[in-house]
Amino acid sequence: MRVGILTGGGDCPGLNAVIRAAVLAGTQRHGMEFVGFLDGWRGVLEGDAVPLDEDRVRPLLAVGGTVLGSSRTNPLADGVQEGVARIRKQLAELGVDALLAIGGEDTLGVATALHEAGVPVVGAPKTIDDDLSATDATFGFDTAVQTAVDACDRLVTTGASHHRAMIVEVMGRHAGWIALHTGMAAGAHVTLLPEEDVDLDEVGATVRAVLERGQAPLIVVSEGAKVHGDEAVKNAPRDAFGHVQLGGAGDALEHEIVARVPGLSTRVTVLGHLLRGGTPSAADRILATRFGLSAVEALAAGDLGTMASLRGVDVVQVPLAEATGVLRTVPESRRAETAGLRW
Ligand code: F6P
Repeated sequence: MRVGILTGGGDCPGLNAVIRAAVLAGTQRHGMEFVGFLDGWRGVLEGDAVPLDEDRVRPLLAVGGTVLGSSRTNPLADGVQEGVARIRKQLAELGVDALLAIGGEDTLGVATALHEAGVPVVGAPKTIDDDLSATDATFGFDTAVQTAVDACDRLVTTGASHHRAMIVEVMGRHAGWIALHTGMAAGAHVTLLPEEDVDLDEVGATVRAVLERGQAPLIVVSEGAKVHGDEAVKNAPRDAFGHVQLGGAGDALEHEIVARVPGLSTRVTVLGHLLRGGTPSAADRILATRFGLSAVEALAAGDLGTMASLRGVDVVQVPLAEATGVLRTVPESRRAETAGLRW
């Protein structure tokens, strides 16, 4: 069997570890051959592929990003039938029998449509946002949170020296998992998520109370937090999957805090893509490797239209369609855990 691998959507630490595990296990256990499609679905649409063999992938375990490149190309943007026909043609020309699509809800949404059209495909879920409902965790999230916490630990010391409120904006478009876990691990005094309404007066009161206790306030805010009633948009034009570019939540929050705590010195740090870069944590290397192994076994067993998923401590294959069903947002119970506490 000849398998084409692609990585689509926003990159994240651990993508290369999936590729490595899939190629090594597929080659050694099942005699599969692999090619890598470049830049996500663009490479599949255009037949832009490179060979992937054991020597190519062995060094990739700890390498950040994706050696295949990524894009937000939507191959079905001009219609499902047209997209599927183009993909089928390219796969036939390259002699590719099946696809392993590694991506988030957009990439796996395309994979689901391809499966429904009869194209042999399996998936592996990735997103630093950890917001896919069909898996208990995605690789990349652990690394992203650790990177954000390291940054907060540094910002806290300089904030304290200058008696400043430090505002840290982290990724998280619709789900605030990165902000929630960063806030918890860094000891933030205020954490704002996309899932909840923002009470600016309460934020101001908390900041004042923290200052009165002699602490420097640390405020973690998701990029998708609705500081002014809606998410802050930096660039309105939508990408091929309909997403606008977010940005400005931290600045908007700074403005509102200063208005409520006159004379307060503040600084905003936008961590943004720092959270997507760099070498994956040990936990992410393991999860990514297990996802790659599971996806290859599914291909070998003909368990098509499925994706690797962490359920408890087990990695199992679940229907691809589940990946894109409902976004896994932060539930009220997780927000309630820390509500009202003075850190
Ligand atoms: O992968 C999801 C994500 O990390 C979001 O949190 C963020 O809004 C988005 O990617 C930004 O991606 P890009 O700048 O690559 O379009």
